[in-house]
Amino acid sequence: MNDQNTAPRLFEPLDLRGLHLRNRIVVSPMCMYSAVDGVASAWQHVHLGSLACSGAGLVITEATAVEPRGRITPNCLGLWDDACESALARVVETVKAVAPASALGVQLAHAGRKASHARPWSAKRGYVEPDDGGWESVGASANSYENIAPPAHAMSLADLDAMRDAFGTAAGRAARVGFDLVEMHAAHGYLLSSFLSPLSNERTDAYGGSLENRMRFPLECFDAMRAAMPDDLPLMVRFSGTDWRDDIGGWSTEDSVAFAIELEKRGCDAVDVSTGGNAKAEYPVAPGFQVPFAAAVKKGVESMPVVAVGELDDPRFAEDVLERGDADAIAIGRGFLRDPRWPWRAAKELGGELELVDQYAWCVS
Ligand SMILES: Cc1cc2nc3c(=O)[nH]c(=O)nc-3n(C[C@H](O)[C@H](O)[C@H](O)COP(=O)(O)O)c2cc1C
Repeated sequence: MNDQNTAPRLFEPLDLRGLHLRNRIVVSPMCMYSAVDGVASAWQHVHLGSLACSGAGLVITEATAVEPRGRITPNCLGLWDDACESALARVVETVKAVAPASALGVQLAHAGRKASHARPWSAKRGYVEPDDGGWESVGASANSYENIAPPAHAMSLADLDAMRDAFGTAAGRAARVGFDLVEMHAAHGYLLSSFLSPLSNERTDAYGGSLENRMRFPLECFDAMRAAMPDDLPLMVRFSGTDWRDDIGGWSTEDSVAFAIELEKRGCDAVDVSTGGNAKAEYPVAPGFQVPFAAAVKKGVESMPVVAVGELDDPRFAEDVLERGDADAIAIGRGFLRDPRWPWRAAKELGGELELVDQYAWCVS
């Protein structure tokens, strides 16, 4: 536990490559299903601008697709062409204008076999057929997630080349529009996650089979992104720490540690350890339920910072995670939707220092 005379670790700065985060609180990526043809709308300006005014050290955008087929829903955000790029440049400009002390990251993603679904509040849920504005999904193998959609088209080697380029090109666009950080999404059963897990990857070529082979494509995408980004711009990776299916040989904690070690060797600046999403599984959801996976990864790597996530919105609980050394930063999702000024509450409860934007600071500090 933190003694009364020590500043809370949550409010200590963290440096990732050329980026200085003023504290260790991260707004976790959250899909907003409010883009049009991948292009950001007024929603992203208001939502991300407001979250940046929370005082969080880092705000990460929702999953942002590297190509149109990489969207989870037809309403998901993208960064695959000039229209997407200029809309996101305007979002970055807004967020930086209102809350310059918060860093803004973008999560670059491809939904793989989990693409082309209706957004959660649509009257008609589930897979969106190509005739209704959806598309055929692509994946590591010709299978589907829990049979809720037609099997994905198994990617050929030429498809892999194009996809690697798409991740790299999107990372280059992210740098150009002024994001402070890029996160590669390799969690939750989406494309890169589906390559990692033996439950979804049934390939018999150099990209399937052994752990080394299953990691190959996500690591190649990482390298392509790194090569497209300026040296001082940090690149972090989110992956699932487990499929929660050890009973049938799913992606495991040991696999996660091995993946994190490979990422660290390649110059990854931080990893963000979530879980699940690749196979149907029963698991106990409770405060900090994913922290043991972050802690295992942290023990396995040399010095690469690790972010923990999942029901960490009790400030004292989150602080204890950092004090125990289980993670270097914490990410919060739904807690920020319920309480968009979460860091103010945490600072008050833990006695932390938090500089607010001038417009609020003069009257509420
Ligand atoms: C509405 C919503 C959308 C989400 N979208 C994404 C996403 O785009 N990318 C991602 O990696 N995780 C996504 N997540 C998962 C969150 O980032 C986070 O890991 C999860 O909600 C657990 O954290 P929490 O308990 O603090 O909410 C989403 C979660 C929610 C609630």
